[in-house]
Amino acid sequence: MTRGLIGSVALLLVFDCVILTAQNSKKTPTSQSRQWWQHAVFYEIYPRSFADSNNDGVGDLNGITSKLDYLKDLGVDAIWITPFFPSPQVDFGYDVSDYEAIDPMYGTMADFNALVAAAKKRGIRVVLDFVVNHTSDQHKWFLDSKSSPASKHRDWYIWRDGKGPGKPPNNWTSTFGGSAWKFDPTTSQWYYHYFYPEQPDLNWRNPAVRQAMMDVTRWWYKRGVSGFRLDAVDTLFEDSSLKDNPVRPGKSVYGDFLQEHKYNTHLPEIHDAMRELRKVADEYNAVLIGETWTDNIDQLNAYYGNGHGLQLPMDFLFTNVNKLSPAEFRKQIAAINAASGWPTFVISNHDIVRSYDRYGDGQHNDQIAKLMAGLYLTLRGTPILYYGEEIGMKTTPPTRKEDVKDPKGRTGWPNDKGRDGQRTPMQWDQSDNAGFSKGKPWLPVPASAKTHNVAGEEKDSDSILSFYKKLLKLRHTNKELLDGSYVPINQNDQNVLSYLRVHEDQAVLVSLNLSASPQKVNYELKKNGFASAKPLVTSGKSSTSGDFVSLDAYGVFIGQLVR
Ligand code: NOJ
Repeated sequence: MTRGLIGSVALLLVFDCVILTAQNSKKTPTSQSRQWWQHAVFYEIYPRSFADSNNDGVGDLNGITSKLDYLKDLGVDAIWITPFFPSPQVDFGYDVSDYEAIDPMYGTMADFNALVAAAKKRGIRVVLDFVVNHTSDQHKWFLDSKSSPASKHRDWYIWRDGKGPGKPPNNWTSTFGGSAWKFDPTTSQWYYHYFYPEQPDLNWRNPAVRQAMMDVTRWWYKRGVSGFRLDAVDTLFEDSSLKDNPVRPGKSVYGDFLQEHKYNTHLPEIHDAMRELRKVADEYNAVLIGETWTDNIDQLNAYYGNGHGLQLPMDFLFTNVNKLSPAEFRKQIAAINAASGWPTFVISNHDIVRSYDRYGDGQHNDQIAKLMAGLYLTLRGTPILYYGEEIGMKTTPPTRKEDVKDPKGRTGWPNDKGRDGQRTPMQWDQSDNAGFSKGKPWLPVPASAKTHNVAGEEKDSDSILSFYKKLLKLRHTNKELLDGSYVPINQNDQNVLSYLRVHEDQAVLVSLNLSASPQKVNYELKKNGFASAKPLVTSGKSSTSGDFVSLDAYGVFIGQLVR
């Protein structure tokens, strides 16, 4: 099938316009003017599940250190490790009881220092997870806060009187089910928790809280940390008059009435707090990544704070494109490119179904895993890979309620099985526990470890892992992919997503077949003054000849345009 790009005149215009504009523009970014986090490839590690050095079934810091060579070879420049601080583990570390220590289940401060040093030796930076919205109910601040209305830390959390016996202060519901208020008999008041009751929200309107949180970041920066992924920033502030949220028809998976989180999410005060954190980060050349679940691009854009807010607010709107639709991806990529900061792309993480399953059709999943890599690793912006993405790990949820570890999976069963499925042990090899641990892993190893694992895929030049490595290698050296502008082309094609990455007078063509049938695309290169597109990275049998690019089902073609 031949698919014209767009009319040849229009194509000429597109190519000329783009390349000439880039040539003449004084603003063309150079590698020198970029910040380290713009060129870096980030990799998210869920430490419980990555590598278990002491064989107790739970991954640990020494396990991560032992895998740094693997990460270096993959092409990772920075690791973001989800919380490993002391914690009752109600939310597997997102309930922190001490921000400035290591939970013994993950190791010691000496292990942490060794990890940072070993990473630095390999040119890998370490980014931590900072749970800014709430602490554990076992944190000393909260224990003091709940002890008396007159305690020093009382106003560090949100305490209010109820509306009457058994009646919380307002109608806000927790995102994990039930009321967002818990009554505490010691002082006969209610405290607010957006997440589990064991995760009381901090009061960011209190300057002492802000000061303490800034100090936490400084404490870690001084220990060699290169930045933070800020947890749940959308929920940092609540309307102080506690207005009821508007109710919507229907019930949640937990049986609660639905509501618009108008008065407890996305409040404008968040951005002052982000600026404050950024000021401290700038003292250390550190990066702030945001867990920013926004409803629209304007909300996301606000997080950049005109260059004074978060450097990398994650574009979760991109993860909402849950089907292989060129039109929908074009729309979302254009939106983030028009925003005021540098885009940040993720396709999986420890809270959402892995991309292997979200996009897989059950028949071409491996090809689709490469296709998705071909997309988010060639866009203008910083990608954050989730561990296991690079070997095609799939989501494997528990099959019985009694096996569920994530509390919300028990409350929501069977409609919401929780997040265990995307947190299963990393699949290193074919051995019984996939090389993750010699002990019984805290979550079962999926059967897919036999077919999708690091050891096997390293030997196979056609594996998902080999594809990731090739692509990441290219990303680190190719100026167009590093610094080029994003130029969508052939925008009416319903099957193939095509764009150029243009830097100065050079361009790379990215051609992605989002359909199950082979495609042949006419890019009319000659008319645009290009002799050919020299293949850089391709999947399957994707190839080029003259003006044409031929793509397998879900095939990828990335080529340098040559004059
Ligand atoms: C977002 C984290 O990614 C998630 O795992 C956690 O449950 C909530 N924030 C609460 O901290």
